[in-house]
Amino acid sequence: MRKEIIKVLKENLHQPISGERLSEQFGVSRTAIWKNINILKEEGYKIESIPRKGYILSQAPDLLTEIEIQSGLQTEFIGKEIIHFNSIPSTNDSAKEYAMKKAKEGLVITAEEQLEGRGRRGRTWASPKGTGIWMTILLRPKISPSQAPKFTLLTAVAVAKAIKDVTNLDVQIKWPNDLIINSKKVCGILTEMSAEMDIINYVIIGIGVNVNAMQEDFPVEVEQRAISLAQVLGKKVSRKDLARRILENIEERYFDFIQSMNFENILQEWRNLSYTLGKQVRATLNREEIIAIAEDINQDGALILRTKNGDRVEISYGDVMVRGINGYV
Ligand code: BTN
Repeated sequence: MRKEIIKVLKENLHQPISGERLSEQFGVSRTAIWKNINILKEEGYKIESIPRKGYILSQAPDLLTEIEIQSGLQTEFIGKEIIHFNSIPSTNDSAKEYAMKKAKEGLVITAEEQLEGRGRRGRTWASPKGTGIWMTILLRPKISPSQAPKFTLLTAVAVAKAIKDVTNLDVQIKWPNDLIINSKKVCGILTEMSAEMDIINYVIIGIGVNVNAMQEDFPVEVEQRAISLAQVLGKKVSRKDLARRILENIEERYFDFIQSMNFENILQEWRNLSYTLGKQVRATLNREEIIAIAEDINQDGALILRTKNGDRVEISYGDVMVRGINGYV
């Protein structure tokens, strides 16, 4: 019911809504309405009570709740159901549990804080309370498991564009899927899947964006390598607006890809946003370090390198170090 109360108050931003009207609309007592209004105030909603007139919403909190993300969300299926946690071990783990319980495609799990946020290759992902977007999207594409890496590339492009749309900041993609600004990581993506030989059961796409974190919010191990949007802009960014835009941008590209089975548009966007292509990189191949120029990526997201003596090498997993003005990043 709180979700419905907020909806009514949001639709009537300049006109007080009486407790009586709300109680009639929802078939509960005025005391029940009053109690719910108080809970909403505790959650961070600024609701004024105007004597003999009613309630008016003056400010909504920047939370990743279903109410806040869905208001104004223009998608057909991603985010139609959003489950929000104040604190949770990992949104990816939670999404997996829902996926196994037959949750619908498009489900989004969000959290204000993750206690055991996971990164790629067994690393941890710092997710301090209220400072970022920690969310996971559940998809059930009817395609072969070998195509799954495409969703990571698609997501990296969609998030980079969403950051540009909301903040006007230019973000680049460091292979395979780190979003970086000023050579530091602002977003990471962890895609996981469950599949049979030839069919995907589900794909979950975990997205972590450092939005409003300050230097002291990052653990010492990552503070030299991580950055938040607020640090670059010098002001806070609305997490809910950015989360909404991310969902819209992912859905747009997902439809485009699934309907056409043509990945060329997304690859082209990825190339345009790449931090890696055209630069010298250091990579490990068969336990040997190689130095080469990153030439391109292929349909499966593998990085194509050209060594000094002209050999063409493909790297499908792991990380590479990219040579920048201050050494390798
Ligand atoms: C990486 O770059 O190593 C990937 C980081 C992915 C972090 C996100 S935050 C939401 C989701 N839940 C997790 O536990 N991890 C992903």
